Amino acid sequence: MGLQNILGEAILSTGSDAIIAADQDGTIVFWNPGAQRLFGHTFEEALGQPLDLIIPEWLRGRHWGGFRRVMESGNSRYGADDLLSVPALRKDGASISVEFTIVPLRSDGRMIGMAAIMRDVTKRFDEMRMLKRKLAELTKPAE
Ligand code: HEM
Repeated sequence: MGLQNILGEAILSTGSDAIIAADQDGTIVFWNPGAQRLFGHTFEEALGQPLDLIIPEWLRGRHWGGFRRVMESGNSRYGADDLLSVPALRKDGASISVEFTIVPLRSDGRMIGMAAIMRDVTKRFDEMRMLKRKLAELTKPAE
């Protein structure tokens, strides 16, 4: 158990990836230094808030539909081999692109919440969009 605890502490305190956990109702109960860096809210500001804090308004319906379904079933389609990519809201109002894994949290076999490991992929998304635009221009038939 010694190594697992050290590893757990070290990984959770990373500043590179955001690690967030929410309880059954979707209230934020864990917010690591990476989450503070990505989204701008401190631990104190995020704790006790609904996940809506970082979800753009137009995606909240889809998110909560999926959240409730996974809370009931215990299974997410975004586990081992698939990542969810979404735009996210920062405290300063800016939008960033994040990619994340969803980890259902169980205690005694019962679902008690959900964790998410999120990474900022804004730079890669912007580069990809720019390359697609360039490619479209280059392959456009001559007029
Ligand atoms: C920027 C923040 C977030 C946005 C924009 C967002 C958006 C979404 C969207 C659009 C879906 C529907 C995906 C689909 O139907 O394929 C979804 C599903 C879901 N979200 Fe979020 N979400 C965010 C953060 C989170 C966080 C932090 C958690 C967990 C702590 C979470 C848990 C879930 C779960 C469990 C589902 C259902 C996944 C499944 O169907 O397997 N979300 N979300």
